[in-house]
Amino acid sequence: MLSNLILRDDSLSVVISGSGAVDFDYFWLRDNSRDPISFDSRSHQRELFTCEVDADIRPDEAGLTADGLALQIKWPDLDEAVFYTGMFLENFAATINILAMPDPIVWDVATLDHNIVQISHREVIGDNGIRKLLDIISRSGFSVITQTPRNMDAVLDVTDRIGYVRHTIFGGLWEFEANETMADSAYTPKELRPHTDGTYSHDAPGLQMLLCVDYEATGGASIMVDGFRIAYELKKTAPEIYADLCRIEVTGIYKGDGVVLRAQRPILRTDKEGNLVQVSFNNYDRDTVKLPKNEMRALYAGIRAFDLLANDPAFQWRYTLQPGDMLLFDNWRVLHGRAPFQGRRKMAGSYINREDYESAVRINGLA
Ligand SMILES: [Fe+2]
Repeated sequence: MLSNLILRDDSLSVVISGSGAVDFDYFWLRDNSRDPISFDSRSHQRELFTCEVDADIRPDEAGLTADGLALQIKWPDLDEAVFYTGMFLENFAATINILAMPDPIVWDVATLDHNIVQISHREVIGDNGIRKLLDIISRSGFSVITQTPRNMDAVLDVTDRIGYVRHTIFGGLWEFEANETMADSAYTPKELRPHTDGTYSHDAPGLQMLLCVDYEATGGASIMVDGFRIAYELKKTAPEIYADLCRIEVTGIYKGDGVVLRAQRPILRTDKEGNLVQVSFNNYDRDTVKLPKNEMRALYAGIRAFDLLANDPAFQWRYTLQPGDMLLFDNWRVLHGRAPFQGRRKMAGSYINREDYESAVRINGLA
């Protein structure tokens, strides 16, 4: 409900029930007119040629509709009055971070409730199943989907319910058999220390899926580490190291298979308000870069502090995936690793882009 409209020199003030008096700049109102000439409501695209609008534009007339549900403005460059609903104005009453995702519930081994991260495949493909799955991932950073059919179709199906398969140098959907009898290092059954994937990509994969297809082995526990938990631990106990990790850019590299991919960002990437938005850490894929001496030392101190925590059992959730278990995790937050094993272990998986994961979170009303 709108009331108490006051027209000022360059803005108008209106009282929105629940929000109080809010000031709206005239140019902003004109730029965001939702009339059919200025805005295509079907495509949600702006039709207005903003740069041609008078920088000092102000309404010819403005008022509230009789029911108080909308603001009505007659602009000098439009024939028809434009309506702004109370709901629209309320949505922009405050400056909000429209990129925000649900608040994470950071965890370590002592605080993580295993039951919270598990969900059956039957539940995922049932009513509201993807919403439940995304709720788990957006809060805890990962989920284990149990009793999943052990084939690529199941990976593709869950991927498609969230977004679509991301193609990379590794292809789209992939199947991978680690076998100790094979010589290539890619098939090594040795330990994989916690890391995030795609530090060499400007847009690291958002979600990663790992389905256990076969497991006839000993060892090979999957390792999940909450990168946000480590970041907050450093922020509390070593704020100067936290600040350095937020500032110093690290280069990731993928060289081979006909490509040389490189990207740079800090291990802890923050937004302009200082909120942590992405953890990127992969010591395997870190490129050789020479920095000024003080920066180099600060970076090594940061890597040492971060990686010691990432390899501390107190921060490592370990779980041996059984055939039909699918691990699905936020690659911008959770580091993954794997304990050494002996025997045969066959996995299938895929990546989903970050923006498609975020979209799914929004479409499901979680952000
Ligand atoms: Fe990886």
